[in-house]
Amino acid sequence: MSLWGGRFTKDSHQYFKKFNNSLNIDYRLLKEDILGSIAWSKSLMEVKVLTIEEQKKIECVLKLILKETENNAKKILNSDAEDIHSWIEHELISRLGELGKKLHTGRSRNDQVSTDLKLWCKSKIKDLYNSLHQLKISFIDLAESTQEVIMPGYTHLQRAQPITFSHWCLAYIEMFKRDQSRLRDALKRIDISPLGCGAISGTSWNIDREKLAYDLGFSSATKNSIDSVSDRDYVVELLSIASISMLHLSRFSEDLIFFNSGEASFIELSDDITSGSSLMPQKKNPDVLELIRGKTGRVYGSLISILVMLKGLPLAYNKDMQEDKIGLFDGLDIWEDSLNMANLILPRITVNYFKCHKAAEEGYSNATELANYLTNKGMSFRNAHYIVGKIVIEAIKNGVSLNNLNLNILQKYSKLISSDVYQILDLDSTINQRNSKGGVAKHRVRDAIIEIKKELAKDGLLKKNSFKDI
Ligand code: ARG
Repeated sequence: MSLWGGRFTKDSHQYFKKFNNSLNIDYRLLKEDILGSIAWSKSLMEVKVLTIEEQKKIECVLKLILKETENNAKKILNSDAEDIHSWIEHELISRLGELGKKLHTGRSRNDQVSTDLKLWCKSKIKDLYNSLHQLKISFIDLAESTQEVIMPGYTHLQRAQPITFSHWCLAYIEMFKRDQSRLRDALKRIDISPLGCGAISGTSWNIDREKLAYDLGFSSATKNSIDSVSDRDYVVELLSIASISMLHLSRFSEDLIFFNSGEASFIELSDDITSGSSLMPQKKNPDVLELIRGKTGRVYGSLISILVMLKGLPLAYNKDMQEDKIGLFDGLDIWEDSLNMANLILPRITVNYFKCHKAAEEGYSNATELANYLTNKGMSFRNAHYIVGKIVIEAIKNGVSLNNLNLNILQKYSKLISSDVYQILDLDSTINQRNSKGGVAKHRVRDAIIEIKKELAKDGLLKKNSFKDI
């Protein structure tokens, strides 16, 4: 069953049909296509293509189709229709006969598919935004309970300066806040309806496109019909936001994989989110984190695919564009699943206070403090840096941390050092000296937690439109 029978004298070849069809991907646009069709039928009624009764019948049958198939994708997938748009039209015609054939008046699948896809994106954005919100809540819970856990902060994966586990959590909250703000931005641009632009040049029926857009929950109607049917910027934009956010999730995973390793042992992941080895009985693997890191590559692949697919297309619609949904659906599903997984992981982390603290002490991560101490006593920072480097070598040779070096040894390197140095080298004091805005000092972290909690309470979840609202 194809939509273009009249012009053709032969049926489609079965291989061509299989290659051409997109139903197995775009069946997910069922609800959006029905919403768009109901709104379109109302517009057709306003321009007198349909009577009030006819519009009511069409709306009623479309709603029935949705009800019957919403949770039964198999019913759609068993058909040999080209795509979801043709499947719904055929279903309507099989139930309403001649009347069903009127619905496509003045409409093209070109404006239809972009309208559906934008509606789908709008709804998915809200799910993603809300998952990010929940993730931030889990991070803040962990941040609250780990304010006293001092651990090494790393640069070049070398112990650099002490931080708190809490401060590490807050870093990720900042990243996920930016992801949310990118989604909000994208939503503004997506929220513009292409319906009524026809195949490329508009429709000759006197449709009020602004009203139609409003009926569908869009903020306005697009301004140029050619652009409207060829624009897939929003697919690129969403996949690029997904890619950035997956980057954050991947770095989060990488951090936790390291924290969870036998070498670090800063954390332990609970049994219900880890897996064993088929051979080595002692192992408990962080597969879930590795999968988030691994799937990130797939999302990047989808972003690259859509960019490359679009870059050489002449205006306006080309069938290449049918490929857009594969990567979009896959990329955004992965992102949402990964966010939800991260949200599952966070409360299942046990932080090993002792191991974290020991590693922070062992790593000479308070060496900067010693250099600052000498600088405070009048030495230039460069000279202090050099001298502390020498002291570190001595400490390594003796197998002790800087605060366990005897005063007479320290004084061999500089007479400016006196017993007050030990107070400076203490880990807690090291932390609290970093009290610039955004720094790790405990009062700064405490204030940041309070601020984020206030933001979370104000920000809240995005409400999704229900079918009935439209
Ligand atoms: N399945 C098509 C897609 O996703 C729908 C639009 C088809 N338009 C056309 N002119 N053949 O792109």
